[in-house]
Amino acid sequence: MKRLTVNLGSRSYDILIGSATLDQIGPILGKIGNSGMRAVIVTNPVIDKLYGDRTRLSIEKAGFQVDTIQFSEGEEHKSLASAEKAYDYLMEFNCDRNTILVALGGGVIGDLTGFIAATFMRGIPFVQIPTTLLSQVDSSVGGKTAVNHPRGKNIIGAFYQPKVVLIDLETLSTLPSDEFRAGLAEVVKYGVIADPELFDYLNENSERILNLDSECLSRIIETSCAIKAQVVESDERESRRRMILNFGHTFGHAVEALTQYVQYKHGEAVAIGMAFASLLSNEMNKCSPSVGERVEELLMKLNLPIKSPNLNSNEVIESMYHDKKTTAKKIKFILAKKIGEVEIIDEIPEITLKKTLDNFL
Ligand code: NAD
Ligand code: GLY
Repeated sequence: MKRLTVNLGSRSYDILIGSATLDQIGPILGKIGNSGMRAVIVTNPVIDKLYGDRTRLSIEKAGFQVDTIQFSEGEEHKSLASAEKAYDYLMEFNCDRNTILVALGGGVIGDLTGFIAATFMRGIPFVQIPTTLLSQVDSSVGGKTAVNHPRGKNIIGAFYQPKVVLIDLETLSTLPSDEFRAGLAEVVKYGVIADPELFDYLNENSERILNLDSECLSRIIETSCAIKAQVVESDERESRRRMILNFGHTFGHAVEALTQYVQYKHGEAVAIGMAFASLLSNEMNKCSPSVGERVEELLMKLNLPIKSPNLNSNEVIESMYHDKKTTAKKIKFILAKKIGEVEIIDEIPEITLKKTLDNFL
């Protein structure tokens, strides 16, 4: 098992990556709590059917008393109503401050479980077992926990770090291929913002990656987690540098919102957003046109979209004003300087933004 550490002082934790690691969750929890304590697995019925029994068995063998809470599949269940339901269960199970929550699933389950852990009894320990590529390379690391508000995604939340992140590469074998590809968009993002070698590796190994070659998976997931860990260590609560993880997201979020969150997976919208951000970077004289060409070429190789749906540029700009990075009515953008380096731009002249959007849309 490969071990990376997210160094955050008293909130530091390990990211453990390997194959068939799921069966190790019991002994791992044993290092966080004591046998006889309670562990509550939070998951959905699809993931529970695939991986619930193995997870429960391993935790029980380590001497914990195990309960399971299931939420129906889907983003709409990442809600305050679900959190409230979970508090009811936790009270019913007589859980206390030593109870450990185990998030078994993708980003929806991970974000929701983290939020419940952050708020129940003012904070109880939780661990992440991410089972989608997106959650393995992004959402399980870094402590952003949240539920959605009817008027916006991830509006209600807290920064709250897990005690450990356990990644089992084998769980990706059951992941639908469109979900896998959506996760790859975030891996491309890490290449553009921080690692030209990762970018080249993705280019050279795109077919093996799409065929779930285990050596490739292990390499891209480890590298992505290492980059994310380093960024989070430098700016845990996103006062500035952590914003670079949002490359492609400003336009991507607008695409998701304006297509009612049903037409695109988050990663697909981010892929389109990266194509747009690269074009804008060139318009703002931050990089040469070849950067955008290379980004688009790689996204296409990975079967990710690069073209925007038919949207109105004024509506896109309006939507961008609701981006969480926007402050004092200034839309922030992460722009590429070259493959492996980006810059945070505090304000893009609206005329440049409008012109670039009109070319792109
Ligand atoms: P998801 O959690 O909805 O999972 C996608 C689908 O795959 C679901 O239907 C799920 O049941 C299924 N699934 C999960 N693992 C599986 C497996 N191994 N085999 C078969 N099916 C499996 O989607 P996601 O892309 O993982 O996460 C999206 C969420 O992550 C969004 O809510 C987004 O806001 C959040 N997010 C959070 C952060 C963060 O930093 N906290 C970062 C990025 C995204
Ligand atoms: N997914 C962006 C972040 O964690 O900051």
